[in-house]
Amino acid sequence: MSKCCINPSILSADFVNLETELKRISNADAVHVDVMDNHFVPNLTLGLPVVQRIQAVSPVPLDAHLMIADADRWAPAYADLGLDSVTFHAEAAIAPIKLARELRARGAKAGMALRPATALEPYLDMLPELDMLLIMTVEPGFGGQAFLDVTLPKIRRARAAVDGSGVHVAIQVDGGITEETIVRAAEAGANVFVAGSAVYGHQDPAAAIDRLRAAGSR
Ligand code: DX5
Ligand code: ZN
Repeated sequence: MSKCCINPSILSADFVNLETELKRISNADAVHVDVMDNHFVPNLTLGLPVVQRIQAVSPVPLDAHLMIADADRWAPAYADLGLDSVTFHAEAAIAPIKLARELRARGAKAGMALRPATALEPYLDMLPELDMLLIMTVEPGFGGQAFLDVTLPKIRRARAAVDGSGVHVAIQVDGGITEETIVRAAEAGANVFVAGSAVYGHQDPAAAIDRLRAAGSR
């Protein structure tokens, strides 16, 4: 049984009480911070100054998911904050290999995300440049959407490619993860699971994390 990481998304938390909300998920593996710019996605969340404050008070490492245009220009500053991982979107990067190297050089794990309809295959040769591949299981932009089963074959192909190449790249899924869908995503090969509403939608988020972790361990 491989270790399964549960990264709650604070998109579903109470933004007025973020410090309290972070303490409620201290048994998580990391906290997933969704940065949206109203250009790459039709929604606006938070940026560098707020992420910096979250980093200062969080009991767990930060996993930043940048849903922002012009990632080449803006992503490195997130790595400079000392975050555990910084994930940019392949569709928003002009030079993804250069950017991944820059993130690593600044001390962060490098993650790259693919929207549901973005093909994996053009990026397979750059797997050694990455610490994490994020396969979006909903269209990015909003929490609370239904898991897209159409992404399962891509997760399977990513797992086969990662295992076949022998590189250590985590396979993260994000969007619509519940105690039910996590089983399918894990079976397909994902090992890092983002969950917003399935964690913060419960009265006891820590207990929800434990249940997700049990369901997602394979
Ligand atoms: C969506 C975000 C997700 C979102 C997931 O664009 O990237 O991280 O918070 O929310 P749920 O788990 O509710 O689908
Ligand atoms: Zn996300």
